[in-house]
Amino acid sequence: MDMMKRIYVQSFGCQMNKLDTALVVGALKEAGFRLTDTVKDADVVLMNTCSVREHAEQRVFSHLGHLKHIKESHPDLVVGVIGCMAQRLGDELLKHEAVNLVCGPAQIPRLSVLLKEAMQGKKATTAVTEKIRQKPTDEQNQLLEDFESAYGVEDKQIPNQAFVRVMRGCNNFCTYCIVPYVRGPEVSRPPEAIMEQIKKLADHGVKQVTLLGQRVNAYQYQQGGRTWSLADLLDAASNIKGIEWLRFVTSYPSGEFFNDILQVMADSPKVCNYLHIPAQSGSDRILQAMNRRYSSREYLDLLGRAREIVPGISIAGDFIVGFSGETEEDFEATIDLVRKARYKNAFIFKYSPRPGTTADKRLQDTIPGDVKQRRNVELLAVQEKISDELSRDFLGKEVNVLVEGLSKKSHVNMDQNDNPQLIGRTSGDWIVVFNGPESLTGQFAQVKITAVSPLTLFGQLG
Ligand code: SAH
Ligand code: SF4
Ligand code: F3S
Repeated sequence: MDMMKRIYVQSFGCQMNKLDTALVVGALKEAGFRLTDTVKDADVVLMNTCSVREHAEQRVFSHLGHLKHIKESHPDLVVGVIGCMAQRLGDELLKHEAVNLVCGPAQIPRLSVLLKEAMQGKKATTAVTEKIRQKPTDEQNQLLEDFESAYGVEDKQIPNQAFVRVMRGCNNFCTYCIVPYVRGPEVSRPPEAIMEQIKKLADHGVKQVTLLGQRVNAYQYQQGGRTWSLADLLDAASNIKGIEWLRFVTSYPSGEFFNDILQVMADSPKVCNYLHIPAQSGSDRILQAMNRRYSSREYLDLLGRAREIVPGISIAGDFIVGFSGETEEDFEATIDLVRKARYKNAFIFKYSPRPGTTADKRLQDTIPGDVKQRRNVELLAVQEKISDELSRDFLGKEVNVLVEGLSKKSHVNMDQNDNPQLIGRTSGDWIVVFNGPESLTGQFAQVKITAVSPLTLFGQLG
């Protein structure tokens, strides 16, 4: 390109989505684009979208409406929609007046070429995977692998931290979930590619790596008569020089390899004692309707086992309230489970039917919005009380945190030395706010906890 084109990129989805954004940015920079942080200055706007709930899609549509207006005065602006919504809606998105390019998650290696074509005023394009549930060919996998290893060190959302995908897709088909239909079949990446990437990241100063997969504990790779599990990956990664902390998300509550994973956590000081393991519901009837393959008893047993093998382990969960047919009794069972699970925190979502999923085809969205809302608030209150209790245990204690940077919200200032407020996380994923020099960003720091709120610990540099 004769002139550096400016590109504005925004992520609307989960960590997978953000990771794709980072890869895409790496590829586009190499192709001669540079980033801008205002839409106004951009030649290209890219939106990396999410389909997991209707609300996530509505947000994208409202941004597209806005972009349509901007295009009236900037007719050359090119707008690309990538990610899960692109895969789900394909050509339909192209009908939107603001959209020039649609590109699904498995097609991102082609993105810079497609964008250049779109900018040369060629016709609008859709690049999505036709048969998304078909097992990808070796060639297709290789393309994504090459893309991942070429740009997998770009990810610098938080200094000295990075995400590494260990699996693509999902085969689990929880009945409410769109992910298997937009991300395709479950594929575990080759261990050497993962390790190579982590080594490179460590060489770039990365101290914490989070391994990503929709069902990350199900990671499995056959090679030379041996099967690699997530426990093996964690073990191998903890031997990489420079890597201090390892995490993995998200775990599915089934027996698969769990003891081994917990054992590595207990044995390796580098594997953070943290588990994000969604339960979704505490009612066995609802769990079954969701095609979650465990009972509430089995789930709680698993947490019990985790706490036995890894004392003090910090656990987070996800819940969906108001799923098809959820009675007050079912909801009470969820409350009961949350009380027993004693999560550090829980993410609670109102059920949102997704087109094409089994729940949407076979079950009705029977629970009214106000009931979903009430259950959401109620469950959150139960959890908040637990988070509050757990956070109190930290009072007066010293914790080791990895500093993420300046705190976005301004909290009560507690420092005499004019240091700004920083934010960090403990290995158990507790957020810690304290005053300190900004140069601590990306470093470990010892902080003495002096005050707590349900989700945040406050303290002073030790
Ligand atoms: N693979 C991960 C996360 C998937 S999406 C896992 O299995 O845990 C993240 C969370 O969004 C899910 O855990 C679930 O709680 C929620 N979610 C997924 N589909 C949803 C839907 N249709 N409506 C409301 N919440 C949903
Ligand atoms: Fe969706 Fe279930 Fe797969 Fe998670 S495990 S991505 S909730 S289908
Ligand atoms: Fe993530 Fe949303 Fe896609 S949760 S995998 S961006 S549907």
